[in-house]
Amino acid sequence: MDVNGKIFKKFLDRRHSSDLHLEQAITKQHAKGKLSARERIELLFDRNTFEEIDEFATSAKAGSDFGKADRGFGDGVVTGFGKINGRLTFVYAQDFTVMGGSLGAIHAQKITKIMDLSMKMGAPIIGLIDSGGARIQDGVVSLAGYSDIFLRNVQASGVIPQISVIMGPAAGGAVYSPALTDFTFMTKHTSYMFVTGPNVVKEVLNEDVTTDELGGADVHARKSGVANFIFEDEENTLLGVKRLLSYFPSNNLENPAFIESTDNRFRFEEKLRDIVPDDPNKPYDVKDAIKLIVDNGRFLEVSELYAQNIVTGFARLNGKSIGIVANQPKILAGTLDIDASMKGAKFVRFCDSFNIPILTLEDVPGFLPGVNQEYGGLIKHGAKLLYAYCEATVPKVTVILRKAYGGAFCVMNSKNIGGDFSFAWPTAEIAVMGPEGAVAILYKKELAEATDPVKVKKELAAKYREEIANPYIADEKGYIDEVIDPADTRIKLIVAFEALESKHVNIPSRKHGNIPL
Ligand code: HXC
Repeated sequence: MDVNGKIFKKFLDRRHSSDLHLEQAITKQHAKGKLSARERIELLFDRNTFEEIDEFATSAKAGSDFGKADRGFGDGVVTGFGKINGRLTFVYAQDFTVMGGSLGAIHAQKITKIMDLSMKMGAPIIGLIDSGGARIQDGVVSLAGYSDIFLRNVQASGVIPQISVIMGPAAGGAVYSPALTDFTFMTKHTSYMFVTGPNVVKEVLNEDVTTDELGGADVHARKSGVANFIFEDEENTLLGVKRLLSYFPSNNLENPAFIESTDNRFRFEEKLRDIVPDDPNKPYDVKDAIKLIVDNGRFLEVSELYAQNIVTGFARLNGKSIGIVANQPKILAGTLDIDASMKGAKFVRFCDSFNIPILTLEDVPGFLPGVNQEYGGLIKHGAKLLYAYCEATVPKVTVILRKAYGGAFCVMNSKNIGGDFSFAWPTAEIAVMGPEGAVAILYKKELAEATDPVKVKKELAAKYREEIANPYIADEKGYIDEVIDPADTRIKLIVAFEALESKHVNIPSRKHGNIPL
């Protein structure tokens, strides 16, 4: 064998050894009903566009030989870049078959290298997480590695979109990077997230809880709100990631991609006239209104199962990406509570960071009353949503469909907190409070003395609705811009957002604001 032959033999041996690991990894993962790191990457990226880097990185030996260690190629994470729907995107995918995807020094270095590249290139980064957390054998080095990642997550926040996809365990330190990123996906049945697992819960609190009950996809989608999207299997999870990305720009200096609309720009939608029921106390599904307004009825809901009294998600209007925040009268009458305020605030802040205009559809009777809400800090959490709307400088348009009462009127993107255009349907009720509450306060004495207080209350409430709780006073005084025919909503919104394309707001220089946390 000549000199070049020897050189190539070494190269081919390394390749072969890596391929062998790949085969073993696939078998092990499939046995658990999961895909391997590279199979996931294959599904995520456009065909033949993925370029792996640091494939042969090998973890350094730790100071001690405590515990088993697999010091083979790759160190338990696959990193690289490629195209997703034609757009440059960076990825790291943890490989659970190498020391449980645990994070050691080189593993962390590979991730931070790819994060630094994605920042320099202004391209989104996706983390496919399948990890037992900090690598126990590597001790403090692993902890430092996590810290390096957290720092970069925060530095990248609001600069490039960051998406975390949990496809196995995310235990201990592994949960904090997803928590710092913009969106978290989970796959049902095979993924879970917790700071401390069921064993620790048993030891410390003597409580029995399963992995799924403690940190499964359903729990995080419904109860904690940590997961924004959950899917039945890994293929659909990755398809969901691709769909979400299509609404975003690559970074905060760009606008979201324009996709030619096949919907009618001038679609006059008479069905919108029938959305709000005649009875003001009757619920309806605001998603029916959203679907009738946006391009081709396509709406990608974010955090669908969490705080369902507020609906958040992405859609397009005449081909342009928008974020939608809508009160949901079907759940808790659309009131704003702690969870809804936090959900809405996070969504508004994401849209604002990435130049995605915000449409607000309002039907809110007020903040949710109650001891639990007050003890839980509704004041500070409600203020988060208020802060987020006030802070946002992207184009912001509101349509008041029905109720806009009290503080909630101010919070839901009123013109006085910076809303650019406000429209109201004729069914809008804009006032300090609802008719029943107003009558009870202003006519307390009269009601107490009335022979038929129910009848008197009803008559006064009707008078209040007629004279005060309607959209025309706000229209006359300029607090809204126009009362519109619901059928015209799509056309009005397209024109409004087009007019706002050149919006520019000068913000005084400061280090950062102090959002109520
Ligand atoms: C090194 C690890 C590991 C870890 C798992 N492995 N976690 N190796 N460091 N953190 C290894 C196992 O030894 C095993 O090796 C292989 O990965 C598969 O693990 P299993 O336990 O057999 O798998 P499974 O039954 O599916 O359980 C998965 C698991 C469990 C729930 C994730 O492994 C587990 O509880 N791991 C520890 C989780 C944890 O507490 N991590 C540290 C958190 S502290 P072999 O050779 O047998 O295949 C932390 C601090 C960071 O992360 C703080 C920053 C803020």
